Amino acid sequence: MKKMMAANWKMYKNRFEARMMLQDLLYLAKGLPEDREVVIFPPFTLLGTVSEELQGVSVYSLGGQDVYPAAEGAFTGEIAPGMLQDCGCAWVLTGHSERRHILGESDEFVGKKTAFSLESGLGVVLCVGETLEQREAGELSAVLARQMLSGLASVAVDLAPARLCIAYEPVWAIGTGKVAGPKEILEAHAEVRKCLEEKFLDNGNKIRILYGGSVKPENAAEILQLDNVNGVLVGGASLQAETFSQIILS
Ligand code: PGA
Repeated sequence: MKKMMAANWKMYKNRFEARMMLQDLLYLAKGLPEDREVVIFPPFTLLGTVSEELQGVSVYSLGGQDVYPAAEGAFTGEIAPGMLQDCGCAWVLTGHSERRHILGESDEFVGKKTAFSLESGLGVVLCVGETLEQREAGELSAVLARQMLSGLASVAVDLAPARLCIAYEPVWAIGTGKVAGPKEILEAHAEVRKCLEEKFLDNGNKIRILYGGSVKPENAAEILQLDNVNGVLVGGASLQAETFSQIILS
């Protein structure tokens, strides 16, 4: 099982900055271990540019940060799975906490996006994670179980496990510089694994679980060694080639 090293560029970079960053990254991250796969999630406006820069570099692939659950239609501003594939995307993010909390996406809508993207042939990284208030109220397991159940509600049980990843991203650790400690990561990833095994039986063990939330060059190696951590989803530190190359090589 390859570890997925995912870069979430959020709403950053223009075409020039994206080209420069990727050229530096490919140079700095030469000798990437065989057991690593890198996925770049740029804003929609950069999909063409990133796809061109990564042409022929087999360990790198491309993903969309969001998707609408329909093949086409009158949905102004939205992007269909087939459009992402047309731009070279193999992956899409669903349920990112910024979409749940800033854009108000419901668990149910996240579930629709997840199932429709998988049916359309995209791989999905479904993001889950609790807020600080939920954690302090002892609701970690309940929140993760709810987000997993509704996120995966319409996903076929015989899904090929390589096509789905879950990213555990505690909301209080995203972009805050506060990283979850090993104990907190182990506990949450074990909960996610339990939900995956309940839904997908033996295949639940083959689905990758990524950690995200203030991953940096200084903490990536330690996080990647933990049980049930099969990759990382990196925001801020994925924007610079220097920091992201150190993370993917750790
Ligand atoms: P961060 O973001 O690494 O900047 O905390 C992670 C994410 O939002 O995916």
